[in-house]
Amino acid sequence: MKKLLTIALAGLTLALASCGKTEKAAGKIRVGFSQIGAESDWRKAATVSIQEEAKKRGIDLIFSDAQQKQENQIKAIRSFIAQGVDVISFSPVVATGFEDVLKEAKAAGIPVILFDRKVTVSDDSLYACYIGSDCTEEGRRAARWVVENVGENAGIAELVGTVGSGPAIERKKGFEEIIKDHPGLKIIKSQSGDFTRSQGKEVMEQFLKSPERDQITVLFAHNDDMALGAIQAIEEAGKKPGKDIIIVSCDGVKEMFKQILAGKANCTVECNPMIGGQLYDVVEGYMRGEPIPERVESEEGVFDSKNITQEVIDQRGY
Ligand code: AHR
Repeated sequence: MKKLLTIALAGLTLALASCGKTEKAAGKIRVGFSQIGAESDWRKAATVSIQEEAKKRGIDLIFSDAQQKQENQIKAIRSFIAQGVDVISFSPVVATGFEDVLKEAKAAGIPVILFDRKVTVSDDSLYACYIGSDCTEEGRRAARWVVENVGENAGIAELVGTVGSGPAIERKKGFEEIIKDHPGLKIIKSQSGDFTRSQGKEVMEQFLKSPERDQITVLFAHNDDMALGAIQAIEEAGKKPGKDIIIVSCDGVKEMFKQILAGKANCTVECNPMIGGQLYDVVEGYMRGEPIPERVESEEGVFDSKNITQEVIDQRGY
């Protein structure tokens, strides 16, 4: 009886093992993705794009939410390596500190695709590809809009994104690169609002209580969520957002479009979160034996009262 049971169990194990093999042989691609969290409407839209596109293509996605913590991202990447996924992708919460784990992925022969944010590493071959926006150019576009629509004189308050993150560093750099040639455009307040609506509001409240409050005529927010929080703070301080203080930000989420149409904000520089499809195009190409491109760009525009209509808002997916 015992012998019979042993034979049956061995048979079952064999059957299960060959089941797993068949699944792999049938071409089920496994991708491990570490997302930052859900700090903004933009991030939530990016997560939907990553998950829905994987489902559509039958990709086995192991998705991990880091809840804004770099240590959770590092842990997730290590677990993807241990599970032997085909490709690892992540949006790094900050730009530095990923060197060791990227070396581990490289040693395991698993390509890493950076999604929407860059890392700073001593050796760029530690990752295979960057898919996403040129955030320095986004900063430049925001500043050009100010030059063209506000003129040569403004006291600018800046709501900076997450300290040490790629988009915060790059948008600041691009913005300053343009305004340095316009001496009347001065950043008089600058502080991080961590890319969230609540902190954008809090920091704007502090700006509006500071000795420089009456000199603030323009707000440059590194993302729409912080700008949306700031709009509330400006209204609560008895001022008119979009008029007393001109508001320019980055992302292009639906809620910001609505504020622009209502005249409470002025410009948003698009940063496209719907890039899940571009990620899996690269992954599927790699699995077919094609080389991974170093850079995949996303197409983006600049939106203000000249091109935002109710119809544009109705068509906006996020
Ligand atoms: O990395 C993209 C930035 O991260 C978006 O501007 C912001 O909204 C998000 O949280």
